[in-house]
Amino acid sequence: MELHTVILAAGQGTRMRSRLPKVLHPIAGCPMLAHVLNTARELGSTRIHVVYGHGGERVREQLDGDGLSWVPQAEQLGTGHAVMQALPAIPDKAVVLVLYGDVPLVRAATLRPLLAAGSEGLGILTTVLDDPAGYGRIVRDGAGNVQEIVEQKDADAGQLAIREINTGLLAAPAHLLHAWLKRCDNHNAQGEYYLTDVVARAVEDAVTVTAVSAADPIEVSGVNNREQLAGLERAWQQREANRLMAAGVTLLDPARFDLRGEMTCGLDVVIDVNCVFEGRVELGDGVRIGPNCVIRDSTLGAGVTVEAHSVLEQAQVEEDCIVGPFARLRPGAVLAAGARVGNFVEVKKARIGAGSKVNHLSYIGDAELGAGVNIGAGTITCNYDGVNKHRTIIEDGAFIGSDTQLVAPVTVGRNSVVGAGTTVTRDSEPDSLVVSRVPQKNIPGWSRRRR
Ligand code: UD1
Ligand code: CA
Repeated sequence: MELHTVILAAGQGTRMRSRLPKVLHPIAGCPMLAHVLNTARELGSTRIHVVYGHGGERVREQLDGDGLSWVPQAEQLGTGHAVMQALPAIPDKAVVLVLYGDVPLVRAATLRPLLAAGSEGLGILTTVLDDPAGYGRIVRDGAGNVQEIVEQKDADAGQLAIREINTGLLAAPAHLLHAWLKRCDNHNAQGEYYLTDVVARAVEDAVTVTAVSAADPIEVSGVNNREQLAGLERAWQQREANRLMAAGVTLLDPARFDLRGEMTCGLDVVIDVNCVFEGRVELGDGVRIGPNCVIRDSTLGAGVTVEAHSVLEQAQVEEDCIVGPFARLRPGAVLAAGARVGNFVEVKKARIGAGSKVNHLSYIGDAELGAGVNIGAGTITCNYDGVNKHRTIIEDGAFIGSDTQLVAPVTVGRNSVVGAGTTVTRDSEPDSLVVSRVPQKNIPGWSRRRR
């Protein structure tokens, strides 16, 4: 079966009240349309045709890729008209799947039975709602066979009482869809070419119409305003939270968990409230994340603890490290096993060796720290001379006193001790004492002048 997916995305999205085209508004940090594209790809679409209108160039710039066709629909004359724009580029023998760019949560598993129905005849995806207002209603005959879809604005009182609604997503062989759409007009309450009219055309042709039911209405919910966007965001997050909990992760409150990317977790990971995970995050067995942390594109080994309010980006943290509270690991931060990075410490492009400690108020950038190094409070690697960045090397076992500046490029030798308040500008041999402090003067009996 050759599958061509048509994604309708030409609607204006006026109710979003936004300069951003509706389908670029994100769910889980990723544009709505990108979710739909992923699903279409997961189903093995040969080609994906995106019907675009308002703001479409911007959408195309952001999401263009292999196997995508961009089909302009200058005027939004209806969903049937929109599909018609894509059909000339679709081979007759293909099966067409119609998705909506603003219905982002539909899953491939839900669409597969629709495709099966649509390769034989016409498959329509329906669901049952307590409040069907606004949707097209599925009209069946006495035997339960689908007869037609009637739009809200065209429906009579009896039809308005029907709770089975049209999600808008459907599948059919391309040649049939084409023939049916050619026989549809816009003589209805909205003066639009309705895609939904293909149901009545199929019935006229005695082609089987199969209503496939979407068990979870959230999957087929559309986004017309920001409240609905927020609703789908929460639904997505709940789905991810459930998946992680099923895989052995404790979430102290799944309603206060946000994943905007992909996360893999070992067993017995514990995540406190209000954490945000972005990009690709890997957490090993027994990792504990305190409240209010942001972790992006990072790998944390088994037994790592990240305390509250820490921000990690492109960091690699090996097993049993302790990070935070209030730590910031920037791109290229590597913490070897058992290292400690404490409060108000920033680490960038630096490796902190096994068991080394940077516990308080420090900046470690462009540096290489060996094992068992101790960095006192307020230590700064002066890595930038205003033009270039330089590296600081601190060898195994060195002890750096508090309030030290290391003016790079510079090396502190193995097991050396740097006195508090030193400005290190020259390399030291192993086992040295390095001090640059101005000797203290005490002048007894000195009385402060007063006005
Ligand atoms: C449509 C269905 C309705 C269904 C509902 C589900 C028709 C006639 N009605 O209603 O049965 O219950 O969806 O949400 O199909 N679009 C275009 N070009 C157009 C018109 C629409 O690309 O000319 C796109 C929109 O961007 C949107 C989708 O098609 O993604 C549906 O359009 P919308 O106006 O929301 O559909 P409704 O008429 O409300
Ligand atoms: Ca709609």
